[in-house]
Amino acid sequence: MEPKIKVEKLTKIFGKTPQAAVKLLEEGVSKDEILAKTGDTVGISLVSFDVKQGEIFVIMGLSGSGKSTLIRCLNFLNVPTSGKIIVDGENVVEFNKEQLSNYRKNKVAMVFQHFGLFTHMTVKQNVIYGLEIKEIEKEKREQLAMDAINKVGLAGWEDKYPSELSGGMQQRVGLARALANEPEILLMDEPFSALDPLIRRDMQLELLEIQSELHKTIVFITHDVNEAFKIGDRVAVMKDGVFIQVGTPEEILENPANDYIKDFVRDIDRTKVMQAKNIMFTPSTLTYGKDGPKVAINIMQKLGISSIFMLESNRKLKGLITIDDAIRAVKEHLPVDDILTKDYHVVEPESYISDIIPLATESKYPLAVLDESERLMGIIARVSVLAGLIETDGNGTDEEQIL
Ligand SMILES: Nc1ncnc2c1ncn2[C@@H]1O[C@H](COP(=O)(O)OP(=O)(O)OP(=O)(O)O)[C@@H](O)[C@H]1O
Ligand SMILES: [Mg+2]
Repeated sequence: MEPKIKVEKLTKIFGKTPQAAVKLLEEGVSKDEILAKTGDTVGISLVSFDVKQGEIFVIMGLSGSGKSTLIRCLNFLNVPTSGKIIVDGENVVEFNKEQLSNYRKNKVAMVFQHFGLFTHMTVKQNVIYGLEIKEIEKEKREQLAMDAINKVGLAGWEDKYPSELSGGMQQRVGLARALANEPEILLMDEPFSALDPLIRRDMQLELLEIQSELHKTIVFITHDVNEAFKIGDRVAVMKDGVFIQVGTPEEILENPANDYIKDFVRDIDRTKVMQAKNIMFTPSTLTYGKDGPKVAINIMQKLGISSIFMLESNRKLKGLITIDDAIRAVKEHLPVDDILTKDYHVVEPESYISDIIPLATESKYPLAVLDESERLMGIIARVSVLAGLIETDGNGTDEEQIL
């Protein structure tokens, strides 16, 4: 599939001799040297990346690294000095006035760090404003505005003024205003940075919830690594106007490109990034209808484990057998059905380790990772969760099992 946004060698120079500065960048001259030589500031330098349809692409970096410059180039609040911005196959940089105006009205919408609301307008008036500019008829724009206000959880607040709202609520208005335009692409420049930590967390979750319904293509900026890794499908780490590394949060955690990135991710809470699918492994299993208690004992003894899962032929999880029960079944000639237990915890492949820890704590058995059809994708040994042993990449073997 074609990427939604394809950025090629995008450069923005602030200063008097931008074209000369671009030439120097292409020759490999650094941002600092260019400033010293020409007095021009490099905002972003020859940046290339793709954003997929429906993806949340996060750009993270310290203050001054070029994040805002980049995102403002994407909707032409900053006019790029050189490079291409290809959206749905069309190069925005080559748009004429009318095409650009259409693009900004219909394709993209921006959410700003400091909300950018009109203080003399109510919530609804703020949200509706962009729709009036688009000359959408009254009834339709009322409906779009109220839909957006409901979506961000502000129903009942539509006639209040921004000064009557908390920061988090004001940013909900900012988000509603962007959503009401029904853009395909949302550009969000540090939208939650001005909010208290708790409100911020709510807003992050809410954004993810809205996104799971709307599937927008989102470019999201933050300087907070935890926020970046929580929200981003992929994350780009920016420094001095260039991307140092682009990857999924797991890829960046597992393979930091250099010491700068290592430093950046040092304090990240891995349990909030790594998911069940990252640490599960494929266990030996029994087949229902074929394997009895004797086979179960054999396998458990061979592997030195004390419980084993039993699957139906379509890999659907049937139950678990413990070594004690298997021995009892052999002694008392019990059928398998009598000793199959369901006394284990089930998690989804996408469950975060932080959410799995409480289950692992109270569970006697490994955790079963099931897909939507209840097929066993893998299992997670309790100790690997509890001891924080989350270094494996899901390729573990039976020999590594400590159950
Ligand atoms: N309008 C401008 N005129 C001159 N220089 C600018 C302008 N806007 C940004 N810059 C410079 O471009 C570089 C990147 O700035 P930018 O605002 O993109 O950084 P940022 O990563 O968004 O930082 P922050 O986290 O503080 O928002 C900086 O060196 C900055 O001084
Ligand atoms: Mg900024």
